[in-house]
Amino acid sequence: MSAVQLLWASLVLGAMSALLSDGACVEVDSDTEAVVHGGFKLGCISCKMRGEVEASATVDWWFMAKGEEDFTHIYSYADMVGTVTDERFVDRLDWNGSKKTVDLQDGSIYILNVTFNDTGTYRCYFDRMLNFEHYEYRTNTTKFITINVVAKATRGMASILSEVMMYVSIIGLQLWLLVEMVYCYRKISAAGEEALRESAAKTPLKLRP
Ligand SMILES: *[C@@H]1O[C@H](CO)[C@@H](O)[C@H](O)[C@H]1NC(C)=O
Ligand SMILES: *[C@@H]1O[C@H](CO)[C@@H](O)[C@H](O)[C@H]1NC(C)=O
Ligand SMILES: *[C@@H]1O[C@H](CO)[C@@H](O)[C@H](O)[C@H]1NC(C)=O
Ligand SMILES: *[C@@H]1O[C@H](CO)[C@@H](O)[C@H](O)[C@H]1NC(C)=O
Repeated sequence: MSAVQLLWASLVLGAMSALLSDGACVEVDSDTEAVVHGGFKLGCISCKMRGEVEASATVDWWFMAKGEEDFTHIYSYADMVGTVTDERFVDRLDWNGSKKTVDLQDGSIYILNVTFNDTGTYRCYFDRMLNFEHYEYRTNTTKFITINVVAKATRGMASILSEVMMYVSIIGLQLWLLVEMVYCYRKISAAGEEALRESAAKTPLKLRP
């Protein structure tokens, strides 16, 4: 990665976070690795196809534990109220989605105190009503998230590699700068000596002290 690329990357990241904080909707995939006893955000975002149209939505979640063959309804969120409907998750699910609105685009929930039994597939379902001027249009979106519960957080190879690359490029750039400075310094001082010697040689002998 060159300095120019780094600069671009930070510019692009900056622009993206500006967009996000502006409320633009971006469908980000959920994390899939939860750590036992910790908290975990089950992400589920469904953007409206037309952001300017008023809408209202409800969100429902189902869970199929690893080894099971059916989904069980575990949570629903409607009219700004969330309800846990499965005893395995009582007092363990919190709403992490869009707040203070019925126009939900983020339907994420948060699992508290994760156990190994939470391993499995979650299904997130948006039921949305778009309110156009003269009619209503009903749509739905379904997403599946398979999570794995681990004893300790592991870091993906890509993230480790990119951190190593970052340090390598920072150190590499500084070394290169140093080498370049030494090279230039030596070149300039050599040229300076040369010029001195030349001007000394051109001076007529009788003018010399
Ligand atoms: C998600 O819910 C958890 C538990 O209530 C809370 O600690 C966390 O701040 C919430 N995060 C967001 C982004 O709302
Ligand atoms: C989390 O659950 C474990 C058992 O599943 C329990 O021992 C522990 O006290 C719980 N921790 C919290 C913070 O609720
Ligand atoms: C996990 O499931 C097993 C079998 O259903 C049950 O015996 C155990 O108590 C559960 N553990 C937790 C922490 O809920
Ligand atoms: C979801 O929408 C599709 C059409 O896009 C429809 O066929 C289906 O019945 C809807 N599902 C539910 C549960 O309403």
